[in-house]
Amino acid sequence: MADLKTLDRDRNKERPKLLRVLDGEVVAVPPIWIMRQAGRYLPEYRELRTRSKSFLDFCYSPALATEAVMQPLRRFPLDAAILFSDILVIPDALGRAVSFVEGEGPRLRPLIEEGAWRLDEPERALQRLSAVYETVERIKRGLSKDVALIGFCGGPWTVATYMLQGEGGDKDRCRRAYYERPADVEALLDVLVEMSAQHLAKQVGAGADCVQIFESWAEGLPEMLFHKLIIDPTKRLVLRLRELGVTAPVIGFPRGAGPLMVPYAQQTGVSALGIDTQTPAIFARGIAPKGMALQGNLDPQTLVVGGDALRQAVNDVVDAFRGGPHIFNLGHGITPDASPENVAHLVRLVKGDA
Ligand code: CP3
Repeated sequence: MADLKTLDRDRNKERPKLLRVLDGEVVAVPPIWIMRQAGRYLPEYRELRTRSKSFLDFCYSPALATEAVMQPLRRFPLDAAILFSDILVIPDALGRAVSFVEGEGPRLRPLIEEGAWRLDEPERALQRLSAVYETVERIKRGLSKDVALIGFCGGPWTVATYMLQGEGGDKDRCRRAYYERPADVEALLDVLVEMSAQHLAKQVGAGADCVQIFESWAEGLPEMLFHKLIIDPTKRLVLRLRELGVTAPVIGFPRGAGPLMVPYAQQTGVSALGIDTQTPAIFARGIAPKGMALQGNLDPQTLVVGGDALRQAVNDVVDAFRGGPHIFNLGHGITPDASPENVAHLVRLVKGDA
């Protein structure tokens, strides 16, 4: 007898399963992709990465970026590819000269140390990102029809935090900047909303099937600030995207939002919700609008450990999200110390082949 798994696989081969789930379809075996699925945990990525001195040059090379996208897909039968780029190409294009310090992370000239904030016009800045859209076109040409292509940008607040303090780390200085200069921070968010909407629209125009907004720093905000810095800008970003004629689904990933996930799910207009590691599926299902796809939320550390811990954690995630539209993913990006063998095991577990 054909089991559910086979039926699920055979249905509607032309339309990627991930897109069907984003439309609200409940499938027997969830589609799977992995946040940061291209990257340093893969030896072939580390090798490829040596061909460009700077990380951003790597991102701006359509040939190298496309190859980075394809590497995990050759190893694992994933249901989606994600554009290889970075959320910080936006500030880079806006004239804030982003660099990446080996082993430390991104560095920018911090806005908080400057008086008047001057940013280039979004229209002109966007032209500097043409290589990114060329990459999307190339990836699309090389993808099989049942694999969805995901475009992305950072959430306006998350990108603003790097621009404000010039680096990662705790966000105390960023919240202070808002209390001290609310009008300046809001003007910055306005620019990022417009720029991000245009950036996503171009990616969809070049072939992305859906997009994800990485709001990696949604944590630690009091409710009033969460509304001003996360909800309002995200809502405007989604609206602007729709105004630009983009109908593709938008996955919002407000990492660390906690209970403020409620207004995020209900008010921003995102089509699907990325669930972080600590958020229970039952909570997310309870607060999400009916039929909204949920994506998540395996602890990335289980991919470092593997074995029974991985098996147990995968079963828990699948069980917890069962019954509603679910995209299997991690609760945050995969870490460089994860093992590719554990990732292979994960995909087999989710697909019922282990
Ligand atoms: O497969 C993929 O998802 C790759 C595309 C991708 C990258 N960054 C490549 C990258 C995506 C979707 C991102 C998103 C991103 N970038 C986020 C949001 C997701 C998250 O993890 O929270 C953030 C906050 C950034 C900013 C950023 N980029 C930081 C803080 C760092 C340094 C820390 C680190 O993890 O190295 C980066 C560098 C970066 N972006 C790398 C990769 C593969 C590693 C740099 C290298 O390979 O030399």
